[in-house]
Amino acid sequence: MAADMGCYNCHGSPKLQTAPSMASLAEHAAKARGDDEALKKRAQKLRAGSALHPIAAHERLSPEAAELLVRWLSEGAK
Ligand code: HEC
Repeated sequence: MAADMGCYNCHGSPKLQTAPSMASLAEHAAKARGDDEALKKRAQKLRAGSALHPIAAHERLSPEAAELLVRWLSEGAK
């Protein structure tokens, strides 16, 4: 799913300078593993983006897709 949606274009390896690698995203997301509330918050944050770095690929995600992807990341992104 992440590959289909182009996530690896920026988070793959070699990665863009500004984007964290999938491995480091997964490490970060693992803190929310098994915690539905925390996973939902991360999914919302991902879609909202930041004012400094608006990222179309993030903003395009449906709430469902964002949650699935964050859950997948929290489980190690495999
Ligand atoms: C156009 C390049 C690009 C694409 C495509 C992209 N990202 Fe990102 N992503 C970034 C950048 C750059 C950051 C760092 C954002 C920042 O510093 O504000 C980031 C940050 C993140 C974060 C951390 C957000 C946080 O809350 O700190 C997650 C999770 C993430 N991306 C997941 C994804 C997923 C899943 C996809 C596929 C749907 C994806 N990205 C596609 C560039 C991209």
